[in-house]
Amino acid sequence: MNNPDLISKTILFVKTKLENAEGGHDWFHIERVYRNAILISKNEACDTTVVQLGALLHDIADSKFHDGDETIGPKIAREFLESENVSEEIIVHVVNIIANISYKGGNFEKKFSSIELDVVQDADRLDAIGAIGIARAFNYGGFKNRTLYDPKIAPNTRMTKEEYKNSDSPTINHFYEKLLLLKDKMNTETGKQIAKERHRYMEGFISQFYAEWEGEK
Ligand code: ADP
Ligand code: NI
Repeated sequence: MNNPDLISKTILFVKTKLENAEGGHDWFHIERVYRNAILISKNEACDTTVVQLGALLHDIADSKFHDGDETIGPKIAREFLESENVSEEIIVHVVNIIANISYKGGNFEKKFSSIELDVVQDADRLDAIGAIGIARAFNYGGFKNRTLYDPKIAPNTRMTKEEYKNSDSPTINHFYEKLLLLKDKMNTETGKQIAKERHRYMEGFISQFYAEWEGEK
């Protein structure tokens, strides 16, 4: 099967699978990551089919909604790609991207690396910062019924991942726990450039937020 056919079939498959997905990981997240991945890949020597498939399939099953089981996404992706007669070499690569992309790492040790993983990971991280990142964070906080900000809980309180997951810390804290750290984790030059702009935007947002919180003087 040629590439455009495979990609459009994958798009259809992912759209159907994510029909009822929550806001943070819906089709539109995939579409943004897909577009960013293509943009970043233009400046890298990489296999664009692997990048496209990796971006499209990277959140096919969120472990948060499968009792933390991080093997389901790779399995669903493999079954789909096999049904499309994709070569074993590409399947292994795409499955490795899905298993290793997460910020958290999860059950899979980060023992795989490739430029295609770097590209898709950067594209996914870009969607967690900037204006979209801010919107996604407050959307997630609302879903978890969290407060926006609480002056009693210092935003830069350090917690373990487990404590953090189980805590009800205000959404602003998430900026210090994750979002403001992402710019220094980018892999590619293009990713770093875009992240820099989006980081600046978030810093502006946060200082404006605190200023408004204190009230007009
Ligand atoms: P990923 O799948 O990219 O590793 P997550 O599933 O952890 O990311 O999060 C999806 C979206 O929800 C991201 O935009 C992320 O910043 C946001 N999010 C995750 N945890 C929190 C939290 N505790 N507070 C606010 N937003 C969060
Ligand atoms: Ni994602």
